[in-house]
Amino acid sequence: MLLGIKSTKQAIIRHLVMAFIGGSLVYLVWSLNSTWSPDMRLWKSFGGASFFLLWFAVFIGPAAKLLPALNVVLTYRREAGVWFFLIALVHGYLILDGWARWSVWGFLGYQYFAEVDSYLRVESGFGLANLIGLVALTFSLTLAATSFDKAVNWLGIQSWKWLHMFAYVVFYLGAMHVVYFAFIHYTPSLTRAMQGLPSNYPDNPLKYYYLFMLLSVLLVQILAFIQTVHKQKKTEW
Ligand code: HEM
Ligand code: HEM
Repeated sequence: MLLGIKSTKQAIIRHLVMAFIGGSLVYLVWSLNSTWSPDMRLWKSFGGASFFLLWFAVFIGPAAKLLPALNVVLTYRREAGVWFFLIALVHGYLILDGWARWSVWGFLGYQYFAEVDSYLRVESGFGLANLIGLVALTFSLTLAATSFDKAVNWLGIQSWKWLHMFAYVVFYLGAMHVVYFAFIHYTPSLTRAMQGLPSNYPDNPLKYYYLFMLLSVLLVQILAFIQTVHKQKKTEW
């Protein structure tokens, strides 16, 4: 009750709505990436869907300050946060299992070369982007773990709210992770060319949507801040 959900039935319906939206987003991103192999297509679709939900969760607060009509969807930030986390977990798991194969070297962008019997750094950007994704996911886990009534009760609502502001840290970390994969990782690479590997990948169909999501959150946060300062100044005079 602490976090404002009035009945179990209402909570279930709201989660079903968000699960349906999340599922539709997974399907949408999956359909748009038809040129990729099935495993890549699957983890991309979970990554893309999770980022859309995270965008909603962090965009709607400052946007509703500027446009009060958006208040009607404001309370859906809870369900968006929960489903973002669950879908991002699947995305992270699929990649750790299918791409990095639970190898720390692989995760950090190193590759084994039998000729020198050691791991050499091949894709440092990949390693950094993975680390950023992992940190974002760890912060999200903290938010999820502290959002149950018992935890909120123990923390106190102000401390819970303070912790929940880390959602913006998750968003900006997530956005850097996404910008790397959408704009940098698949561009022609000297190391791949020297290994005789192809690097002519299809364009990411969602890259400008991802960029729009990043810039739109930045913009509404700046505008909402300016509006708050203006209002404060008016009451001071
Ligand atoms: C353990 C944590 C994570 C790991 C290891 C990870 C790893 C990756 C990798 C390797 C890719 C490239 C996939 C490909 O091009 O085939 C990717 C893409 C992506 N990731 Fe993550 N990620 C993690 C967490 C996250 C989180 C928390 C978010 C959301 C904020 C996220 C959102 C995305 C998105 C949107 C893409 C681009 C999908 C596309 O190509 O359209 N990832 N991630
Ligand atoms: C079990 C997991 C979670 C629960 C139960 C939960 C619950 C809530 C609740 C009750 C609210 C207040 C909504 C309202 O104003 O009516 C909220 C707000 C919010 N949630 Fe979560 N949340 C969870 C996880 C997450 C995660 C992982 C993120 C993103 C990383 C997130 C992002 C947000 C954001 C941005 C807000 C608005 C904060 C503000 O501007 O005051 N949540 N959440």
